[in-house]
Amino acid sequence: NHTLKGKDVLTWLDFTQTDVSQLLAQAQDLKENPHNSMLSGKTLGMIFEKSSTRTRVSFEVGMVQMGGHALYLNSRDIQIGRGETIADTAQVLSGYVDAIMYRTTSHEKLAELAEHASIPVINGLCDIYHPCQALADVFTILELKGRLCGVKVVYIGDGNNVAHSLMILSAMMGMEVVVASPKGYEPDPAIVKKAEEVAKENSGSVKVENDPAKAVHGADVIYTDVWTSMGQEAEAEERLKALADYQVNDDLLKIAKDDVHFLHCLPAHREEEVTASVIDGAHSAVFQQAENRLHVQKAILQSVIGNPNS
Ligand code: CP
Ligand code: NVA
Repeated sequence: NHTLKGKDVLTWLDFTQTDVSQLLAQAQDLKENPHNSMLSGKTLGMIFEKSSTRTRVSFEVGMVQMGGHALYLNSRDIQIGRGETIADTAQVLSGYVDAIMYRTTSHEKLAELAEHASIPVINGLCDIYHPCQALADVFTILELKGRLCGVKVVYIGDGNNVAHSLMILSAMMGMEVVVASPKGYEPDPAIVKKAEEVAKENSGSVKVENDPAKAVHGADVIYTDVWTSMGQEAEAEERLKALADYQVNDDLLKIAKDDVHFLHCLPAHREEEVTASVIDGAHSAVFQQAENRLHVQKAILQSVIGNPNS
């Protein structure tokens, strides 16, 4: 087994298809056998600058199920909130905990923490990536379809952090990924370019377009996320207008394959980016997907800080 010990998990661009396949297999094992002592005596520090339900709870529960412990550190309550530097925080925490999960407003801050920490840093969401989410997404697609290679996943809506990580990881796993966004809300062209390079190396494909109906033809999976991400609240009204034609509803689902699956990273806003009929309907796998956050993050933790012999 290729070792990921000591590695940061900031973006899947730093990993290979082999690494990810290994993590997915480990997550499958952990889903079947949730309890072990691989993280006995280990502590995960979790710094949150933004709200969270899934990420916070799944990381904490995951640590406990493997014999470890997790600390919830709200950035407002620790000294980072009063101006202690990220570099100092990184070095101090490195003396206490075994890994840091960081949910932050900017990828630069995440990279700075990782640079100054001597322990693995895991991206719990930033402005441009959400890698743990994407790992749960492809794990769920693998469960639903029994394969990844050649599966067509179509992301509809805001070209945000979730879209970026999904694009990169789907491309890496040999999938066909299409992102349909309105003008001005497309994924970052620099990240699209990187995803295209990854796709080329792994027989995947990446396409960005503006027409959701065209995009979902033949889709195996339709995915969406909120139109207003955390920190963009001031733009909410403008976004609601710009994205109005990108709602995932029954009409859009009809264009996809009959057995299409619907995914959403959650939290969701019913009747905005998705209708209740879709997210609460027969095609939806959103709660299976949410549960899978737990299993895949345990695989990450086990790989980067696990004791191989326990
Ligand atoms: N999907 C996700 O990351 O959810 P939380 O914001 O609740 O952690
Ligand atoms: N794009 C959303 C995802 C939340 C899990 C956000 O950044 O707020």
